[in-house]
Amino acid sequence: MVTAPTATDLPPSQAERAIRRRIARHGPITFAEYMDRALYGPGGYYARGNVGTDYYTSPQVHPAFGALLAVQLFRFWHLLDRPDPFHVIEPGAGDGLLGRDICNAASHLPDGFGASLRYVALERHARGPGSGSIPHCDVTGDALRLPFRDVTGCVISNELLDALPVHRVRMERGRLRELYVGIQSDVADGYEGQLVEIAGDPSTPMLENRLSDLGVDLSEGQTAEICLLLDDWAASAASALDAGFVLTIDYGRSAEDLYDPVERPHGTLVTYLSHRQTDTPLAEPGRQDITAQVDFTSLRRAGERAGLTTVGYMPQGRFLTRLGLQTMRRSGLPRESANAGWITIPMNPEGALPDALAEPFLPQPDDARDWLTGLTHLARPGGLGDFRVLVQAKGITADRAEAAMLWLEDGATSDEHTPAGLAAMIPAEALTLGPERFRLGRTAML
Ligand SMILES: C[S@@+](CC[C@H](N)C(=O)[O-])C[C@H]1O[C@@H](n2cnc3c(N)ncnc32)[C@H](O)[C@@H]1O
Repeated sequence: MVTAPTATDLPPSQAERAIRRRIARHGPITFAEYMDRALYGPGGYYARGNVGTDYYTSPQVHPAFGALLAVQLFRFWHLLDRPDPFHVIEPGAGDGLLGRDICNAASHLPDGFGASLRYVALERHARGPGSGSIPHCDVTGDALRLPFRDVTGCVISNELLDALPVHRVRMERGRLRELYVGIQSDVADGYEGQLVEIAGDPSTPMLENRLSDLGVDLSEGQTAEICLLLDDWAASAASALDAGFVLTIDYGRSAEDLYDPVERPHGTLVTYLSHRQTDTPLAEPGRQDITAQVDFTSLRRAGERAGLTTVGYMPQGRFLTRLGLQTMRRSGLPRESANAGWITIPMNPEGALPDALAEPFLPQPDDARDWLTGLTHLARPGGLGDFRVLVQAKGITADRAEAAMLWLEDGATSDEHTPAGLAAMIPAEALTLGPERFRLGRTAML
């Protein structure tokens, strides 16, 4: 039994009160149920509309992310014979920023792509329309039960799957145990005690089945997370499509790597509060974000079971670089800094930005510094650049599916459009930061 540290003296949140009531009435709950309630139940972290208040995501860092994804979507659209409409469905859209960036950039791409694009941003808890330059997502929809059928297009997601509830398991004395969430029982009324972790028999054989399907043997004492919703997600995305692609971007790794007992003996569950990694999952439910790395091996297999073919898998840094990140770096630098000459941001082998961050940047106007820092972060090794991009396809021939990714290889495109050529068509005006971005150049988070 592990006791949750008390993070603050704040009274229990609405989500915490609901969790406590549930446990007091029915006994300990799985961590997956706890996470679901803490994030999405009444008063839950995401139910209250928190996106990017305690962490930042690629769209929040830089519009080039969406612009480069528009370039890849353009490729998908061509491979599908330029359907009109071409639907792009984004579940878990958060504040809707990515959709805005993609549509913005798409309107500058050729062949009428922008006019054919129908972008649908969905949220489990829609946040309503935004105001001014702040976009918001106003369509409620569950990623695991997408309300679409037979669409020609793409289902795209960024950092959706790391926010899906996970079960937690631990190997104890050679037996797989599940970690439940209970209330410390030595306190009189069974409601006021601290939330605690309680090991018990697995709530479902699916947990053990997942590990044995993966050939994973947890070592003694090793803790791990298992997301049983990946099959639901793959089935939901696949059934939305008649023909097209599923493009998933998230942080995670292969199962072999994810469940490595030496590298990750305690699993990958993390919590964020006020832009700090707190790693106290039982503290402050409803007030902090809870997330775990995605098991991309299981995700690929779930897709294959649902009728999707895997056509590409690579780190975000490589993906964005091949889509023309450097081209944007040249063309999109805010105008006021153009006279200051070209700035190179060398990265050390660990991917950290230079120690003397101030040195090369100080003479730059703030906007230019933020702009370049954000852009660099998208592909930074050890950070967003290590996120994974998985592309799956449905209903298209194998050679076309293969061509969806092959065009990212040097010299592999035979048609008139190259990724860099398309990226160069997106003007600087479509790549300005605006007040809604997380200004990496001005924070101590580097
Ligand atoms: C980490 S945030 C990412 C937001 C956004 N995609 C971005 O990149 O900034 C995860 C988002 O997924 C949403 N989400 C989680 N589960 C969902 C589901 N089943 N259906 C729809 N949205 C979901 C959450 O509400 C949250 O807004």
